[in-house]
This record gives sequence, structure tokens and C-alpha cells, in this order.
Amino acid sequence: MKNNDSVTSKRKKEHIELCLTDDVAFKNKTSGFEKYDFLHYAITEVDITKINFETKFLKKKINYPFLISCMTGGVEAAESINARLSVAANELNIALGVGSQRQALENKSFHHTYKVIRENAPRIPILGNIGAAQVAEMKSFENVQYLVDLVEADGMVIHINPAQELMQPEGDTLQEGLLKNIKKLVKYLSVPVLVKEVGSGISKEAAEKLLDAGVNGIDVAGAGGTSWAGVEILRNDGNSSNEFWDWGLPTSYCIKEIYRLKKKYKFTLIGSGGINSGVEAAKAFALGADLVASARIILQELSKNGAEGVIKLITGWFDTIRKIMYLTGSGSLQEFRKNKIVKKETFY
Ligand SMILES: Cc1cc2nc3c(=O)[nH]c(=O)nc-3n(C[C@H](O)[C@H](O)[C@H](O)COP(=O)(O)O)c2cc1C
Repeated sequence: MKNNDSVTSKRKKEHIELCLTDDVAFKNKTSGFEKYDFLHYAITEVDITKINFETKFLKKKINYPFLISCMTGGVEAAESINARLSVAANELNIALGVGSQRQALENKSFHHTYKVIRENAPRIPILGNIGAAQVAEMKSFENVQYLVDLVEADGMVIHINPAQELMQPEGDTLQEGLLKNIKKLVKYLSVPVLVKEVGSGISKEAAEKLLDAGVNGIDVAGAGGTSWAGVEILRNDGNSSNEFWDWGLPTSYCIKEIYRLKKKYKFTLIGSGGINSGVEAAKAFALGADLVASARIILQELSKNGAEGVIKLITGWFDTIRKIMYLTGSGSLQEFRKNKIVKKETFY
């Protein structure tokens, strides 16, 4: 494709601008979290002051099991966003993903927009990011290792986004050879490979195939938050009645289903897609997530209140989660994942 760098960078700029609005939310489909409630435990003996969220992710200790989802890089506006996100992530000691690094393979002009993350956050787990369509067509994988090294990543995320690509005028819908190449990439790379969707969710069947291919983590990125089909529809003809706007599997469903695979596989399950409050994050944990992640709400908070705002937002969520754990008699997240949540219909 000619003018590839300007096409990629222009698209990224439009993505940021659209995601600063709520126009790109799902319309009639939800994450499903609202269908659940916690089981109040009147005789709780948990000492709320002793609830500790520290955990390990990609061999590093983090203070909260939280990931600021992969968002941006490869366009000038990304430098300030990634700089401030990494200051917040470093302060909180949580994980952070970079946006798709495809642009960094085109030329070096925006490498600084990615590298700023490690400069600001020397110790946190950082995730590199590349698209499934690119991985599917690769004949060799030096380029992916190059992207890992560029951001000194602790893990590499492959984002799978067929609905987004399908709605994107310049989209790449060919994923033939994807699983075979993921398997090879897992063996080739110096760091673990994780896979995420971007808002249409991952089914148990797909997750099992990915785990068989050797991936180390699955981020469900389910339906109910940001609609990436919606983002592309708005970039294209703006027809908001497009039948694919709400395409995908709700986040709560994906977490619950993929959690079942824990019996057979060892992997990190990340719950994301429309996690916009402490209560939703708590429900994701209670349904089985090891970590939770958010994207658009973090970008919006950053734009309104800067890194300080993001820090406050995330610590506020974990304060809420701590209270919910106390009220359900859960002294640890392991406890909290054991039957502390039910479908609301159970009560009536
Ligand atoms: C501005 C913006 C850019 C994004 N770019 C990427 C990307 O480059 N790679 C990727 O894997 N996901 C990308 N995402 C998707 C998010 O990581 C996330 O999976 C999705 O938005 C659903 O989470 P949410 O409902 O909390 O927004 C982006 C999200 C936002 C808001």
C-alpha cells in the first residue's frame, strides 16, 4: 500500500478522537455484568485492612491485578498519551500495553511514541502489540522480536479483530494461517505471547485452540464497552444502524466460559471490554479473571484529569473491590473467585 505510514497514522489519530467520545459504545448489547449480584455474607470475619491485591504478572510483582489496555503509538499525539499513561502505571505499579506496533515496522519516525513508556516506567510489565492479520501473513518472526525489544516488553500481545477489520474500509480480513503462525511465534519469541480481542470477545472454543497453540494469556476484550466495529463504521459511512455495530460475545460470558479452561490449562485470564467501574471490575474477578483491563474510560479520564486522574480512578475502583470482598467474606482474590456471585434471577 502506498503512503502506508500516513494511512496508519491518520487512522490512529481518528481512533483516539472517536474514543474520546461515547459515540463508539455498544448500543443494545451489554457486558452482562448488570445481570449478576454479589452474595452478601452477614458474618464476614475478613479484616478489610489486610486485603492485599499484590500479584505476579509476567514474572513481575504488581500492586493491583490491573492492565491499562493496549491503546496507542505510531502517531504524534500518542507520545503525550503514552507518556502520561506510563507515569500513572508506574506510580500504581500496574501493567500497561502499547497500541499496535505495526506502524513502527514501517519507519522509525514515531518510535519515540512507543519507547517513552519504558523510559517512564522502568519496572512494570509492558506488553507489545501486533495484529492477527500481520502475524498470519508472516514468513519469519524477527520483526516481532524487534517490536518486543523496541519497548523492552515483558510479553507480546496479538490482537485479533476480524469484526473491526471487516468494517474498516482499508481493513485486512485475511487470517489464514493464524494459528499455525501463533504456534511458531510462541516458540520463537523471547517473551510469552498473549492474545486479545478488541471488543467482540473470545469464545471458549477459540481460547482452547489458542491455548493449544501455546499462548500464555487470554484477554477476552468482550462486547459491552467500546465497539470497534462502531469506530470503523463512524470512520466510514457513519451508518449507526449498521447490523454489525453490536457484534460479539458479552464480556461476562467470555470470562465465565474461558475460566472453565483453568482445569486443563495454566494461563492468565484477563477480563476486559466495558469495565468502567469498580463494581464491574469486581464482577470480572468474581467470575474468574486473574487481571482486569480497561481502555477507553482510561483514555477519557487521562484527557480530562491527566495521570493524577487515572491514578485516582483506579485506586478508587480497588477501594470499591476491597469493600465488596469484605462484604462477601473474601479475604483474598482466590477466595473471591469461589461462588461469591450469582445471576440476579436467583434471588426472585
Ligand atoms: C484509542 C484506543 C486505541 C486502541 N488501539 C488498540 C490497539 O492498537 N491494539 C489493541 O490490541 N487494542 C486497541 N484498543 C482496544 C482496547 O485495548 C480494548 O480491547 C477495547 O477498547 C475494549 O476495552 P474498553 O471497552 O475498556 O474500551 C484501543 C482502544 C482505544 C480506546
